[in-house]
Amino acid sequence: MNLLIKNVILPDGDKLKTTDIAVTDGIIVKIGCADENFKADEIIEGNNRLAIPAFVNAHTHMYMSALRNAADDLPFMEWLFNGVMPKEDRLNGEQAYWGSLLSCAEMIKRGCATFCDMHLFPGNSAKAAAECGMRAVVSRGLVGSDGGQKRLDDQFAEIEEWKHEKNIKFMLAPHAIYTCDKEYLLKISSEAKRLGLGLNIHLSESKAEFNDCMRDNGCTPTEYVASLGLFENKTLAAHCVQLTENDISLLAKYGVSVASNPKSNLKLGNGIAPIYQLDQAGVNVCIGTDSAASNNSLNMFSELNYMTLLHKGTNYDSTAIPAKKALDFATVNGAKALGFEKLGKIEEGWAADIALLDTDVPQMMPLRNYYAAICYCCDGSETDTLIIDGKVVMKNKELLTIDTERLYYEINKIVDFLDN
Ligand code: NI
Repeated sequence: MNLLIKNVILPDGDKLKTTDIAVTDGIIVKIGCADENFKADEIIEGNNRLAIPAFVNAHTHMYMSALRNAADDLPFMEWLFNGVMPKEDRLNGEQAYWGSLLSCAEMIKRGCATFCDMHLFPGNSAKAAAECGMRAVVSRGLVGSDGGQKRLDDQFAEIEEWKHEKNIKFMLAPHAIYTCDKEYLLKISSEAKRLGLGLNIHLSESKAEFNDCMRDNGCTPTEYVASLGLFENKTLAAHCVQLTENDISLLAKYGVSVASNPKSNLKLGNGIAPIYQLDQAGVNVCIGTDSAASNNSLNMFSELNYMTLLHKGTNYDSTAIPAKKALDFATVNGAKALGFEKLGKIEEGWAADIALLDTDVPQMMPLRNYYAAICYCCDGSETDTLIIDGKVVMKNKELLTIDTERLYYEINKIVDFLDN
């Protein structure tokens, strides 16, 4: 399958160039005029379109889009235990599937091709991703102080069911240190080692989590997780807001990837992660939206905007986290954390996950700087076309793999059920 994307705008050093991108079987084979012998099965006209590597959302909870705007402006633990969880308890697998598909629709509309999901309903986000052509790393949020074997067994069954889908991968996900006891954390860690899977964990998200861990274990959450040996697995840690200097050294030493969720952390009153310091220490920083119950949107452009601005402001340094670096966080760094090879750059030999942005809009004119336009000007509505693994999943803002009329009908039914 050959795809030719014509006349798109790409960076050329400090300048911009207009060029073609040729794709064969999901891989970018040529940037520049395609070979005369390149017979395109499909041509995308990219006039006045900026081509960017499609985003990797490194931390989300797909099903929770069904809970959007259900609990807001509450203290963190009240939001989680009284706002979100009672509604979550009433959801079933099919409803979780529609919530996940709603997340897919929103992310595709905003140029995101890949997500890392922590769920409660096995199979549903994998199904949604496979149906609409997204890449996903899926994990069941494991909670427990009872050994939690049933939840682990659910996870193993899900892995077995989806192991042949090449764009669906798995991690094991101990939800957090305050929802898993020590024995369960150790058990999950050893299962991950046995299966060669990475770990996906919420870590040091709130002051309450940090202070409780100091009180109960005499060390920080990061030190606690390190002391249990979890970081001997390839680990993706979400949030990492409350960190000491020693914590940052530990994350760097063990090669832990950090999925920062700037908007969720702000909205839940949890603070601002020390991303500038993590990046300086050599930690692989990536970006997540977290769920639509805490954000309340899954818009990576918006996260990029916050990511660049927050850390300039809090460090009193306008050179902190420049736009180009932030785009790496949102693309290639996320792909690395999730174990996708050669994903997250528009280069020959890399995966053809590409979003095209309309530049014929006021906020994109004049178009002087590629990275500044993406991080400081875009709101995401410019996303016009999305290609994932060489396949067009959105063209001229129309979703090609999702029936939105049916989707919205099902979502409204869920809201009627949950809220009445
Ligand atoms: Ni989360």
